[in-house]
Amino acid sequence: MERVVWYAGAWQDATMESIPAKIDLADVSLFANGTPHHVFRHLRKERPIYWNEKSGGEGFWALTRYSDVLAVSRDSEVFSSERRGIMIFDESFETSGRERMMMEMDPPDHTRLRALVSRGMTPRRVLGLEDFARRCFSKVLDRSLELVRCDFVSDVASLLPLQTISEMMGVPEADRARLGLLAHRVQGFDDPEFGGGDGENTDAIQEMSSYALELAQSRRRKPLDDIATAILYADLDGESITDSAFASFFMLLITAGIETTKSAISGGMLALMEHPEHWEKLREEPDALPVAVEEMIRWVTPIHHFRRTATRDTEIAGQEIREGERVVVWYSSANRDESTFREPFRFDIAREPNEHLSLGFGRHYCLGANLARLEIRVVFEAMLRRGICVERQGEPEYLLSNFTNSLKRMPVEMRARD
Ligand code: HEM
Repeated sequence: MERVVWYAGAWQDATMESIPAKIDLADVSLFANGTPHHVFRHLRKERPIYWNEKSGGEGFWALTRYSDVLAVSRDSEVFSSERRGIMIFDESFETSGRERMMMEMDPPDHTRLRALVSRGMTPRRVLGLEDFARRCFSKVLDRSLELVRCDFVSDVASLLPLQTISEMMGVPEADRARLGLLAHRVQGFDDPEFGGGDGENTDAIQEMSSYALELAQSRRRKPLDDIATAILYADLDGESITDSAFASFFMLLITAGIETTKSAISGGMLALMEHPEHWEKLREEPDALPVAVEEMIRWVTPIHHFRRTATRDTEIAGQEIREGERVVVWYSSANRDESTFREPFRFDIAREPNEHLSLGFGRHYCLGANLARLEIRVVFEAMLRRGICVERQGEPEYLLSNFTNSLKRMPVEMRARD
């Protein structure tokens, strides 16, 4: 009998997972217990370019194979991020009432904006955050060790991503907790616990946008030595960023950078708890951590998908796609594609090569990839160095979302080894 390790690492019988008669990847309930790997596996095998219908509306193409996700991510001319948006059912951008984010642009606007912010967010400045991250996480650890029993997601994993991005953008300490709550509400749009569907999400976006505008104005009045100032004053052929474009970039960093990294840290911890032998190995060989971090990012795949729109009639692996149709690339499926990864359902902390697509590919490749890797490494380095034991004290709960693969809660006990 075939056996497969699913997300949480628990052994389950693949044949016992039933495939819905009509697969609807837009139905968030399919993701209530984590990534529906049995459905993706079925699609990869039987219908890799699947037309996902939408009742009373226009559906989308769901791409689940690594090679197709890669091909679409590579070709931003034919598969646009700008035309009709990047979330599954985004429609016309013009009606959204906010400034377009970098992720929602095609060249030449995307190229110009990415070049501009990259002048401020240089690798040197980003790597310069490592000392801050270490100090910050050391305090987080002290506190959770005092608590002994805590929620790994909110008490441990969420704090460093929020603090690091805030530090990077020069957000005063007093405002950081509020910003974290807003980010959470923006990301949890499908989960009723975080205000999904009742307008709170729109309020959160507006509040965050006003905050970012004020931050820009305050740096214009008084420049500081931070990345926010560097971005605001960056110059590209005499052009610089406008305050509203800055606000939209700030929102992108907060929404793209906090939930995702938090999810990789909590999901990585869960996988390591399921595999204590890996935890021991990393304790003995801390140099193996960067490779393990990459596997955590693949294993968790914090963002399930993004969307593109075909700019002309085309085809993907023999399937005709018409101009204007929506094409959704499912990273969570591509990262478990049997034809690309050796034993994809094995959490293998020594996996090399590991060319996962969790951070996207091509023109829009994650701008925060190095920061995310740095943060995840700092978290596990500190826990391993201090000889921390983490034990699960109950079932983890997932955020109800088919967009981010996040844990909402994971009760644990944390102790320092004597
Ligand atoms: C493990 C954590 C993270 C994951 C899984 C992740 C994932 C992704 C993915 C899949 C994309 C591609 C979007 C597309 O193709 O449309 C992306 C883009 C982006 N990410 Fe991340 N991200 C992470 C952390 C971060 C962090 C920490 C930051 C900020 C410091 C960040 C900022 C961005 C930005 C600005 C873009 C847009 C780049 C562009 O459009 O050119 N991300 N990310």
